[in-house]
Amino acid sequence: MDKIKLSLISALAIGGGTTIILSWWWWWSREKKLRVPNKWRRVGEISDIFVFPVKSLGFIRKSEIECTPLGCKSGWLRDRTLMLIDLNKKFITARKFPQMIKIKPNIVGSILTLEAPGTNKINIDLSHVGKKFMTSIWSQPVPACDCGDDVAQWLSQFLLQEDTGIRLVYYPLDVPYRDVKIKNKAFPLLGNADAGAYPDESSFSLMTEASVEELNARLEDPVTPLQFRMNFTVKGTKAYEEDTWDWIKIGSVVFRNVRPSTRCLLITIDPDIGEKSNINEPLKTLKKYRQIEDPTIRPFVGESPMLGIHMGLKGPNGMIKLGDSVYVNVSEE
Ligand SMILES: *[C@@H]1O[C@H](CO)[C@@H](O)[C@H](O)[C@H]1NC(C)=O
Ligand SMILES: *[C@@H]1O[C@H](CO)[C@@H](O)[C@H](O)[C@H]1NC(C)=O
Repeated sequence: MDKIKLSLISALAIGGGTTIILSWWWWWSREKKLRVPNKWRRVGEISDIFVFPVKSLGFIRKSEIECTPLGCKSGWLRDRTLMLIDLNKKFITARKFPQMIKIKPNIVGSILTLEAPGTNKINIDLSHVGKKFMTSIWSQPVPACDCGDDVAQWLSQFLLQEDTGIRLVYYPLDVPYRDVKIKNKAFPLLGNADAGAYPDESSFSLMTEASVEELNARLEDPVTPLQFRMNFTVKGTKAYEEDTWDWIKIGSVVFRNVRPSTRCLLITIDPDIGEKSNINEPLKTLKKYRQIEDPTIRPFVGESPMLGIHMGLKGPNGMIKLGDSVYVNVSEE
């Protein structure tokens, strides 16, 4: 064998070996990142659980809730979500109609009841909704079923003082439907499986009471965690500690911090009176010290300040109840 052949063969052998080692290393580090950790540190406990069955409407406070890939679930609240759309099938939020926050939902059996100041209650049977059609959220198609003329008229009268204009729709699937938004590609841990039914970003959200207290120390008119419409509040931590969490275990349910919660005008609506703050608070104050500076993320989020985190479910379904311990992962070395 001449020298040229020999060096060619050894080059191939080295190249092949390197490729194998590199692929193994790539696979191994990816697996390690996705593997549920086994060392945890307790950081606090669950102090409130809120469910928002209808996008932008009022809340239901729970003492326990089941966590599923689609979000929180309890009886007929299960695996579904509702929202309002206009006659062009465009989704409507409290950004445009702050009074939406004053509509109080309740669910007993399959009956959703809506109640608002100055109106009679209305009942909607979620087991009898219309045929599936497509609507969209932030330009991404999502399936929906219409909840009927009575509730459409009720909502239109309360929000528009007209007999028509707004319809209520109901999510017909048990699994998320949307792909991750282009804007969210900055957050690689956020996957299609975390999209939920109709939320803007993901199906679970959490914030600490300490963060709200710290913010309140900077505000003239204090706010409550409800102003931020999160599913879980945690007590016993330091302010803004949630920013640094990666894996999170609540009771026995495992989540991952997939994205900071970036804030918009919605948080200027007072949940008690359903009106926007005329001095743009607490958004204005948050913008002063809670913007994302990281140059790889900044172009995707702009000036929106962050408060709280979005989470994805990363293990089996499970129950969470008030008082459950909250753990975060610690180094396994
Ligand atoms: C959880 O909270 C988010 C807002 O942070 C909301 O959009 C979503 O509907 C909530 N999930 C459930 C199941 O209520
Ligand atoms: C938590 O887990 C992630 C991913 O496995 C890891 O990068 C991070 O270092 C862990 N956190 C701590 C404090 O060890």
